[in-house]
Amino acid sequence: MEFVVVEHPLIAHKLSLLRSLETPTALFRNIVNELVALLAYEATRRVKTEQIEIVTPITKTIGTRLSKSPRPIIVPVLRAGLGMLDGMLHSMPVAEVGFLGIKRNEETLEPQTYANRLPDDLMGRQCYIIDPMLATGGTLIDSINYLAERGAQDITCICILAAPEGVQAMREELDPNLNLSVFVGALDERLNEVGYIVPGLGDAGDRLYGTAN
Ligand code: URA
Repeated sequence: MEFVVVEHPLIAHKLSLLRSLETPTALFRNIVNELVALLAYEATRRVKTEQIEIVTPITKTIGTRLSKSPRPIIVPVLRAGLGMLDGMLHSMPVAEVGFLGIKRNEETLEPQTYANRLPDDLMGRQCYIIDPMLATGGTLIDSINYLAERGAQDITCICILAAPEGVQAMREELDPNLNLSVFVGALDERLNEVGYIVPGLGDAGDRLYGTAN
């Protein structure tokens, strides 16, 4: 597994705004999307392209465009991943969007899919999973396995923050033969006793959407 902390002053600046308790919901949402666009810049370096003939005001030449066949697919993990979708689509407007809602069954500890809007066959597709917080790694591991069961072999995850515990769990539990990359804005210190990333930014879903009770 390739694991990359994308280091850039713009990312560090925007991340600090996200972490701050004083940043209100509307601003938080905007910054998440700006940040995702910056992370996507690095995470999509290997995205498939094709050559096309174009005509400039001066002459004909050969240009490049993102491949339309097969198109990349973006998979936001519900619910917080949805907050990253606009930023990803801004960078890759040709992408298809699938949705995935996964949670662990409290009794069996088996992953349960409560929402799925994905093609059955992901063979040959470049898949971009977006989920802001790589905490224990549980949801991301289940999501990656779900995509891999549908034939996906080329999977890139984009997260805003990661905890070392989650990165280690991914290294230990996922198939090492998968072509898997993880791009994050920062690797934080640790998880606290209730599974929050420290120093982190709090509950990403709550900060994006406010708390719905
Ligand atoms: N999920 C969050 O939203 N925040 C954390 O810190 C960990 C998991």
